[in-house]
This record gives sequence, C-alpha cells and structure tokens, in this order.
Amino acid sequence: MKKVLDNFIVLEGLDGSGTTTQLEKIAERFDRDEKAVHATFEPTTSALGKIVRSVLKKDLVTTPLALAMMFAADREDHLNNPVHGITHMLSRGETVLCDRYIFSSLAYQSIDCTYERISELNDFPYPAFIFYIDTPTEVCMQRIYRRDVQRELFEEDAYLDKVRQLYEKSFTDLPKEVTFVRIDGSKPIETVTEEIVETLKQHHIL
Ligand code: TMP
Repeated sequence: MKKVLDNFIVLEGLDGSGTTTQLEKIAERFDRDEKAVHATFEPTTSALGKIVRSVLKKDLVTTPLALAMMFAADREDHLNNPVHGITHMLSRGETVLCDRYIFSSLAYQSIDCTYERISELNDFPYPAFIFYIDTPTEVCMQRIYRRDVQRELFEEDAYLDKVRQLYEKSFTDLPKEVTFVRIDGSKPIETVTEEIVETLKQHHIL
C-alpha cells in the first residue's frame, strides 16, 4: 500500500485546463494569509526536466517508454532530492503545492505504453489532496490555440480525449486518506480558485 503524504497538494488536468493559473492563484492566497507554501510543477526545471521539455517541444525524438522513464526520473528527483526534494520540505512542516504529478503520467504516458508499466514506473506516494480541473476538451483546445504558436507533443484534441479517459482510470481506487476534488474548469478562474480554497480551509491547510 502506497504512503499518503500529508500537506502535499496536487493539481491535475488536461493541457489548457488551467492548472498553471490555479497554481499561481492558490500560492497567492497562501501568501495573502501569510501561510508558507512551496509552489512547484512537473516536468521540473532540473536537467532531467529540461530533457523532457525538449521532447515535448519536438526538438528531441525518443520512444514513448523512454519519455515515460524520463518523467519518472524527474519525479523521483523532485520528490526525493536530499537538498530540495518535496519529501524534505514536507518533513520540515512545509505545505507543497504541485502542478501535475503521477496522475499526469498515468493519463498521458499510458496511451502509448501500458497502464501497468506506467503504474510500475510511478510507484510514488500519493498526495493528500488532488484537485482535478475537469475542463471540456474544446475549451482546452481553444486556450491552447490562443496561447501556443507551436503546439507541443500532446496538444491535439483526439489525444486529449484519450488522456481524459485515462485520468478517470487513475482516480479510481484512491485510498480513503486522499481527498479528491473534481472542479468544473469551464467556470471562471476565480470560482475555481474559491472552490480549491474552500476545501483547503475545511481541512485547516489554509
Ligand atoms: P505543462 O503543460 O503542465 O507544462 O505540462 C507539459 C506537458 O507534459 C503536458 O502536455 C502534460 C505532459 N506531461 C506528461 O505527459 N506526463 C507527466 O508525467 C507530466 C508531469 C506532464
């Protein structure tokens, strides 16, 4: 049975669903309330994360399994790096807020690899909170078209529909200690933020 990491909050959603915007908004709310939070994201800015980004930008070509392994290696370092790893921060009593985590790998990488293989590669602890920003694919694609001059590897609507189905699979059988909240991502940004804040307040995190 995988461990659940207290005070570890994860945002998940399709490309264009608004997780990055919410990361900023929620971090601002912690600041406003003078509560410490470490806001972070995957793929990270480490050397490993940079290789992943070059594959996403299509500057580097590799196999789906090699990419899945790179995401997992970046995640292992992000979690367990002895100097600035997430587990290190949590052990000091800090709250960590992360844009994307294992559920992104289960949803995206399981399209071209098997779900079981991706699960094995992602044998990492669960976060205490998952906020899934559930946004219609058309809305995500409109935002991607507006934002990106050059579209990244997974930013195609047929692909995102498959990602959505695999996200659903990844959220089944979560341990009861994990708080899972689905939020309608077509609602205004402020409404989405308020719904996240409300849950965090109920659990005395904010
Ligand atoms: P971003 O849009 O949040 O910066 O993420 C970059 C892309 O990487 C996005 O298409 C989702 C994808 N991704 C995976 O395929 N697997 C993963 O494990 C993570 C963290 C992201």
